[in-house]
Amino acid sequence: MNILEIRDLCKVYGKGETEVHALKNVSFDIEQGEFVAVVGPSGSGKSTLMHILGGVDVPTSGTVNISGTDISGLDETKLAIFRRRHIGLIYQFYNLIPILNVEENMTLPILLDRKKPDKKLLAELVDKLGLSDRLKHLPNQLSGGQQQRVSIGRALMNHPSLLLADEPTGNID
Ligand SMILES: Nc1ncnc2c1ncn2[C@@H]1O[C@H](COP(=O)(O)OP(=O)(O)OP(=O)(O)O)[C@@H](O)[C@H]1O
Ligand SMILES: [Mg+2]
Repeated sequence: MNILEIRDLCKVYGKGETEVHALKNVSFDIEQGEFVAVVGPSGSGKSTLMHILGGVDVPTSGTVNISGTDISGLDETKLAIFRRRHIGLIYQFYNLIPILNVEENMTLPILLDRKKPDKKLLAELVDKLGLSDRLKHLPNQLSGGQQQRVSIGRALMNHPSLLLADEPTGNID
């Protein structure tokens, strides 16, 4: 079964002199359980692709189908719900909420979904990611690598069916 099907994805940023074609007719499928690496030089469109697959940016044209749902057909609210329940996105630049501490950042997507965070999973992830003594710290009180580890933890809290990782170890040992 395909977890992901994308067809003819194009993304154009800007207009006129500053126009950039970040993605040109990208099509591929990924099967459930498959591990795929996207490789390319800086500026070649990797993050753009991740953000579109993660439903946080929209393509100029083309379609993204995740587990049988065409996410381009969802309105903003439905897309936000779909994202929270099905997708884990580890951002290249973390995107943590500055006024929330480590624990709050990690559990936010679950709380927004009006669910109770799985305390056991939280403890397990915090331990594995080496964040046990930083739970009450704010992002600006953390190193880059620690922030990246929080972002990894947040992406894993909802048991995502699709995990998108944008250079997730760029800042860690
Ligand atoms: N918000 C934006 N507005 C205008 N152009 C953008 C924007 N974001 C990205 N671009 C352009 O799109 C292209 C692809 O950018 P993207 O961030 O996807 O590259 P990348 O492969 O992730 O690079 P890196 O390895 O440096 O992270 C770049 O050439 C960039 O100039
Ligand atoms: Mg990038």
